[in-house]
Order: sequence, then structure tokens, then C-alpha cells
Amino acid sequence: MRIEAEQPAHRPGIRRLALGAFPTAAEADLVDRLRHDGDVAISLVAVDGEEVVGHVLFSAMTAPMKALGLGPVAVEASRRGEGIASDLIREGLARARREGWQAVFVLGDPAFYARFGFSVEQAAGFETPYAGPYFMALALDGTSLAHANDPVAYAPAFQSLE
Ligand SMILES: CC(C)(COP(=O)(O)OP(=O)(O)OC[C@H]1O[C@@H](n2cnc3c(N)ncnc32)[C@H](O)[C@@H]1OP(=O)(O)O)[C@@H](O)C(=O)NCCC(=O)NCCS
Repeated sequence: MRIEAEQPAHRPGIRRLALGAFPTAAEADLVDRLRHDGDVAISLVAVDGEEVVGHVLFSAMTAPMKALGLGPVAVEASRRGEGIASDLIREGLARARREGWQAVFVLGDPAFYARFGFSVEQAAGFETPYAGPYFMALALDGTSLAHANDPVAYAPAFQSLE
């Protein structure tokens, strides 16, 4: 199993994976639209042989700092619990840090995302429709993310999920 940057040849496998991992086609369509809109900052696949068994995407956000939104992330059902999503997320965060991104936001379960350093506290004060107990942030450059009432917004493609 190896983790690498998305190549055009991976795209059918990424779509197949998203269609299988989520209840509707919304996330698969979201990935396609983000790509179409040029809003994909980091897209990594976990590949076993020729098969795409995991995928994570980070897209550029509108925010008071250079920020990315994490998601979607998906792993082939038969391969879950092996640490594939964790490896993808950690590699994505490492690349984001190297590329000079300052923060990453995610909407998800704090029990899962806390292990990477995300917290609801770091997202507090940022205005978004997602604000609440599942909206988390991670500062990548060691600075504080305290920006009371500053708006942050996911890439336009995410509006189709609402
Ligand atoms: C969520 C998902 C990507 C995790 O992939 P994975 O490769 O199994 O994850 P890892 O093996 O790295 O980590 C597994 C850990 O995450 C936990 N976990 C997985 N999904 C979780 C969830 N939705 N909420 C909370 N914890 C979760 C597992 O309990 C496990 O915890 P442990 O390490 O304490 O035992 C995978 O379950 C999946 O594709 N789900 C369907 C799509 C989805 O819901 N994506 C997330 C929203 S975009």
C-alpha cells in the first residue's frame, strides 16, 4: 500500500471509492466539481496494486489566513481500521505544512480528528454555517487561530452538499 498524489489515472477509482463509501453520490460529485473549479489543493490516494483503496482531499478555503478544508476522506469498506485514513490525513497535513498553509478546518467527529491535533476550541470564533460541536481547526504554523467573528468559507462546490 502506498500513498501518492492523485494522478488523472486514479480518478475513476476515486469516484468509485466515494460512491461506495457515502450513502449518495454527493461526495463523489463534490470531488469532481472541486477538481473542475480548480479548488483542489491536495488530493492523495492510497493505492494497493492498481486499486485506489483510500482518498483524501484538501481544498482551498476563504479565510483570514491561508486555510484548507479537509474532506471528503474515504477508505474502501473492506480495508477500514488499518490506519489508511490516518496515514492519508497525516501525509496531507505534512504536505500542507510544507506548502505554507497555515490552518486546516474540518467538519467531523472530534473523537476521530483529535488524534491529528484538530480541536473545536481552535475553530471557535470563526463564523460559518458549520460552527458547532463538529467544526474543528488545526493551526499548522504554531500560531494561535484566535480571530473572533472572522468568516471562513468552504470552496463553492460544498454548497451542493447543504
Ligand atoms: C472514516 C473513514 C475514512 C476511516 O477510515 P479508516 O482507514 O478505517 O480509519 P483509520 O484506520 O485510520 O482509523 C480508524 C479509527 O477511526 C475511528 N473512526 C472511523 N470512522 C469514524 C467516525 N465516523 N467517527 C469517529 N471515529 C471514527 C475508528 O473507530 C478507529 O478508531 P481507533 O483507532 O481508536 O480504533 C472510513 O470509515 C470511511 O471511509 N467511512 C465512510 C466515509 C466517511 O464517513 N468519511 C468521513 C466523512 S468525510
